[in-house]
Parts: sequence; structure tokens; C-alpha cells
Amino acid sequence: MILITGAAGNLGNAVIENLLKQISPQKIAGLYRDANKARAFTKEGINVRVGDYSDKSSIEKAMVNVDKLLLITSNDENALTGHKNVIDAAKAAGVKHIYYTGGALNKNVKQSKLGLLTDAYITTENYIIDSGLTYTIFQNGLYSEIIPFFIGYDAINTGINFPAGEGKATFAKRTEMAEAIARSILSEGHNNKIYLTTGLPTYSFADIAQMLSELSNKTVSYYSPGPKEFEAQLREYGVAEGDIWFSSLFAAIIKNNEYDITASDLEQLLGRKPTDLKTYLKETFIN
Ligand SMILES: NC(=O)c1ccc[n+]([C@@H]2O[C@H](COP(=O)([O-])OP(=O)(O)OC[C@H]3O[C@@H](n4cnc5c(N)ncnc54)[C@H](OP(=O)(O)O)[C@@H]3O)[C@@H](O)[C@H]2O)c1
Repeated sequence: MILITGAAGNLGNAVIENLLKQISPQKIAGLYRDANKARAFTKEGINVRVGDYSDKSSIEKAMVNVDKLLLITSNDENALTGHKNVIDAAKAAGVKHIYYTGGALNKNVKQSKLGLLTDAYITTENYIIDSGLTYTIFQNGLYSEIIPFFIGYDAINTGINFPAGEGKATFAKRTEMAEAIARSILSEGHNNKIYLTTGLPTYSFADIAQMLSELSNKTVSYYSPGPKEFEAQLREYGVAEGDIWFSSLFAAIIKNNEYDITASDLEQLLGRKPTDLKTYLKETFIN
């Protein structure tokens, strides 16, 4: 049995969809915090397990008969404690292989802005490696799908207002990362490997504005406000505090070039070139 955590989320859901193309639903289980979110897949016949990383006993129950586990990172405040609960429970239950989705981080950065994400990503990876479990870690670049969240779907008309300065980052489609993860779970040769699942090359938001200009034949401006100015703007628009925190954190991380890293691992795992960023922007902002 393969257990996918974060099964109601974008990545987990997409991994399950990819697995379902190749194996029977009876071999797949999804971990949900809320059983109601599992409805669509219950119809397909996958096993539904209800649990929260922070609730040890729910996680222990979820591990029954699990051979392979995909732990999808959480980025809440207590992410590390929750991740450790899942890893410990997997070990105790005799799970044979753990797969983890971390972040593609540029280790040359001196003063990291990752904050809480340091634990969610780096400390968790080290905990998995030290656990003795067979592992595969996917250090995911930024999702291309996150760009409209940061700049709005109408960016061609509004211009880009995002405090990422001239920082560069790697972007790849989350759906293709999910496909690569599912392929790896179902194939051999990934024991104790760490993959940088990223797009190539890296781009700044000025580059993204330039690409949108070329695609739309309009001049798309890019303005990088100060962090306080940005937060005040979002508050004025009524954006939820959690989303303000998330956008501001990622802008600071990108400005600091912490996702300025690439490799060809995603291409190798997919067996084809990942969708390039300009094509993604065209699909999303033009069509
Ligand atoms: N690389 C990037 O660009 C990027 C961007 C954003 C986030 N991320 C990270 O990548 C992860 C996956 O991305 P995504 O797009 O699939 O995010 P998502 O749609 O927010 O899904 C995250 C999933 O994790 C589950 N989850 C979170 N905390 C949990 C806990 N304590 N116990 C059990 N389940 C928990 C959520 O459960 P519920 O459905 O119950 O909420 C949700 O299903 C995110 O969680 C985040 O850490 C990466």
C-alpha cells in the first residue's frame, strides 16, 4: 500500500491522479485531515485514512499495511514536530520507503530568510536521512502555479507588484512535479536519492514581466515595493493575514536568491523536458 499525505492538497491530489493511471486504487491510500475532502477519491476506491501530523495516534493508525509513504511537507508553525511524528510512526510500522517533498534551496545563501521553513525543509530532510529508513527526497523548486497567486491573473493589465527585487528563482509546474514523484514511487533505482526537481533556468520577476510583455504585446511593468509597503497594500485589498504572511515570506526568500538553483533531475524523472516557464505563462495568462 502506498500512503500519500496531504492528499486533499494540490500536490498530493495530483500524485494520486498519476498513480491511479498505473495501479489499482486498492493499492493507494490518502491521508486527509478532513474525511469530507476525500469524497472524490473515495468514489475511485482508494483507501481513506484520517489523521493530522500533530496527532500521533491518528498517524500511527494511518500507517497500517503501508509499504511506501509520501510525506508532503506542511508549512505550518509546528511543521517539524508533525513531520517527526510521521517519520517515527513510519519507522515503527515497518514502512519500507519514505518519499519526501522538500525545497530546492540554494545553499550558497549566507543569511537565509527561510525562517520557519528551515525546519519544515532542511531539518526534516536530515531527520529522514538519520532515521535509517530508505528515502527519496524531492527538493522541489517553486511551483509555476504559484506565480498567479503572487501577481494576480490580470498581471498583464495591472503590471507586477511584488517585493522580490531582482532575485531569481526556479519554477516548474506542480502537476509535472507530481507526475515525476508518482513515476519514482512506482519505479526502481531511487533508494536514498535526493533530487532537485526544478525548472531550468532561473528567472526574476523582471524576467517574468518581460515574458508577459512579449506574449501579450503590451508593456507589463514590474515594481518591487518595500516589504512594509507591500503588506499595507495587501491589507488594503482585504487579503487574509495568512496569505499576506505567505506572499511576503516567499518574496523575501526569492529576493534573497534562495531558490536560485537548477538541475536536470525533473527532466530525467519525467522522461521529457518539463514545460518551460514562458509556455506556462502563455497557457495561464494569455489563453
Ligand atoms: N514549492 C512551492 O512553490 C510551494 C509553494 C507553496 C507551498 N509549498 C509546500 O508544498 C506543500 C504541498 O503543496 P500543495 O500545493 O499541495 O499545498 P496545499 O494544497 O496547501 O496542500 C497541503 C496539504 O497538506 C496537508 N497538511 C498540512 N498540514 C497538515 C497536518 N498537520 N496534518 C495533515 N495534513 C496536513 C493539508 O491538509 P488540509 O487539506 O486539511 O489543509 C493539505 O492537504 C505545502 O504544504 C507547502 O509546504 C511549496
